Amino acid sequence: MLAAGSPTPLIDFPVPVPGVRLLLKDESAQPTGSLRHRHARALFRRAILDGLVTEGTTVVEATGGNAAVAQAWFARRLGLPYTVVMPGERSEARARAVEALGGECRFVTPPPAIYDAAREIDGHFLDQFGRAAEHDLADELFGQVRPHWVVTGAGTGATSATLGRWSQSHRTADTPTSGTADDPASGDGSPSGTEGGGWRCRVAVADPDNSAYFPGWTLDTPDYATGMPSRIEGIGRPRIEPGFRADLVDLVVPVPDAASVAAARHIREITGLPVGGSSGTALWAALELVERMRARGEAGTVVSLIGDAADRHLATYHDDGWTAGKGLDIGQVRQYVDELRRRSVV
Ligand SMILES: Cc1ncc(COP(=O)(O)O)c(C=O)c1O
Repeated sequence: MLAAGSPTPLIDFPVPVPGVRLLLKDESAQPTGSLRHRHARALFRRAILDGLVTEGTTVVEATGGNAAVAQAWFARRLGLPYTVVMPGERSEARARAVEALGGECRFVTPPPAIYDAAREIDGHFLDQFGRAAEHDLADELFGQVRPHWVVTGAGTGATSATLGRWSQSHRTADTPTSGTADDPASGDGSPSGTEGGGWRCRVAVADPDNSAYFPGWTLDTPDYATGMPSRIEGIGRPRIEPGFRADLVDLVVPVPDAASVAAARHIREITGLPVGGSSGTALWAALELVERMRARGEAGTVVSLIGDAADRHLATYHDDGWTAGKGLDIGQVRQYVDELRRRSVV
């Protein structure tokens, strides 16, 4: 596990393009195994600073995912009672992780009823979607590396907003970390990452099937809704959430679910980490950006986020029976990924 205060690691990921480096920022190294650890810290901090959570306040959330484990972890550290409302029938696996940290799980059907159920509980509803809290990823990442692009998925939208806000307010005139393929440090000839010889990181959101972010961003329609749930845990939403800041994002890349799954398996083959589908979504979009840089003769660095890793993903995204049951044909994408791997130098 990560020592307190240490940044999560950057993993070099092989790509077949000279002068272009792809790094995976491994948020699965967080104490509770996901990027949601940063969200939870930010939500608790703000609720405490605003006086909404004090000694003895029951902290409440509605979520089925990693957020519950991260929040239960912080509640325990702060000595606060914690209750999470999860969608669907009771799942021992999901309940166990929260209950082991002293939290309480309630299961509610139909799934959309979790938000009203959470509001009815006597306590403070953190409401990660309604009050998405920007967190500390950007400060940490840009202290480690100055990339051309950083790629993330969007759930609440907080991560892309955090990264976009940082990069828009930290343009530099004198920190060229980009250049051409022939001279990676020259700082010229590179439309992305450089502006007048200076540097600004671009933020790309990788968006899975059924999500509203890609069509909403493309059509500039903030109330766009698909009404369909995402199959990629943690990212992709049926509507554009209030925390998503289109003005802080440079590009939204649609990623088919079959590509997310194939790319997640690719990450596992290279790193050994049983990553979730969202890490594959981000990697797929990052590979598109690497290809774009190759076509333009650009050099520089792309960072893609590993959002989480957990053994439970072995029974879903990494399992052929699961993909077949979901009607996801990953064969063609696998061929492309295998070819990429053959051509890559580590
Ligand atoms: C790779 C990845 N990117 C982004 C996110 C979502 O972040 P946010 O809720 O801040 O939009 C997640 C969430 O799990 C993730 O796994």
